[in-house]
Amino acid sequence: MQYKRMPIEIESPESLGYDSIECNLAESSVRDIKYKDLGIDLNQLVLAYDNHIGKPALRKLIAQEHAGISEKDVLLTVGAAGALFIINTSLLTKEDHLIVVCPNYATNIETPRAIGCDISFIDLSFEEQYALDLEKIKSALRPNTKLISITTPHNPTGTIVEKKILENLCKLAEDQGCYLLVDETYRDIAFHNVTALAATVSHKAISVSSVSKAYGIPGIRLGWVISRDPLLQEVFLAAKEQIHICNSIIDEEIGYQTLLKKETYFPKIKEEVMANFALLKNWMQTHQYLEWIEPSGGVVCFPRFKKIVNIDIEAFYKTLLKKHRTYVGPGHWFEQSKRSFRLGFGWEQQTSFIRGLANIDKAILETLL
Ligand SMILES: Cc1ncc(COP(=O)(O)O)c(C=O)c1O
Repeated sequence: MQYKRMPIEIESPESLGYDSIECNLAESSVRDIKYKDLGIDLNQLVLAYDNHIGKPALRKLIAQEHAGISEKDVLLTVGAAGALFIINTSLLTKEDHLIVVCPNYATNIETPRAIGCDISFIDLSFEEQYALDLEKIKSALRPNTKLISITTPHNPTGTIVEKKILENLCKLAEDQGCYLLVDETYRDIAFHNVTALAATVSHKAISVSSVSKAYGIPGIRLGWVISRDPLLQEVFLAAKEQIHICNSIIDEEIGYQTLLKKETYFPKIKEEVMANFALLKNWMQTHQYLEWIEPSGGVVCFPRFKKIVNIDIEAFYKTLLKKHRTYVGPGHWFEQSKRSFRLGFGWEQQTSFIRGLANIDKAILETLL
């Protein structure tokens, strides 16, 4: 394995220091909450090693949201990031080929790269509304293709793979005898009903998600892999045991108690996200310099500067952060042109979100050529 740090992590808001940012529009989750606001008491928790697969009651809670999934199909991991690492390193060797839909969350690219795999990138394009083209994936298949890797709802564009496309992708993976990795980390914060969990559609589909994006608790590092293939889950468990034996029992308990109560506080989170989204939509609709593909889920979108806009792009990001203390995620976080950037609309409360959008406008005007 050849590890290399990823720009999205090196330049992340937490690496930069939250103190240096006033309007955080780079974030891909809702605002973090305080432990005390969860109303959880962990005083009686025994700090033992936990069940290696993960707390049974929590796995049951996660499983019962999806028809045909039981707790034995759910393996808890250290965030979705931990799940992606386990899956990639369990399934792939440097002799294997995989297909990765791009742009994508950096780990979905960087871990196969660190393994030394042969990767075919299938680019989603603005001109095609960032929609997934099945034919392109089909034509990239090779005899040694071991994995197809997609994300839905998508980071950074917020687009969602349609039901029919997902079903066809599953069929493609079955015919090829390869696996389909579906990173569904933004699933719980889709705007409308999302399509069925990929793992419910096919034994070849592996679904990944976590509590990081929708509930304000990414710091507890809790995610999961769902697959209906018991042999595969056994391999993933072996990998997990070799990395960290089990999850943190504290993380599991907080995650469990939070998900148990999600019906009481999640609607408010969603309401705030949708209110920010309405403001954003309004801002984008009449924007002189930016264009976008409207997202269908998640808390991020990926606007870009219109072709006719002549701007000093480095100066734009610098001015936005240093002068206006507003942060967005430049395109290079996703190996894309810096003329596109990830804009998160779930993190800031309404007043600072509005200020952040206004600051983007100011930074644009100040750096036009
Ligand atoms: C698509 C995607 N997958 C996985 C992750 C990692 O999430 P977690 O905090 O659950 O490890 C992220 C985080 O930004 C993401 O955007």
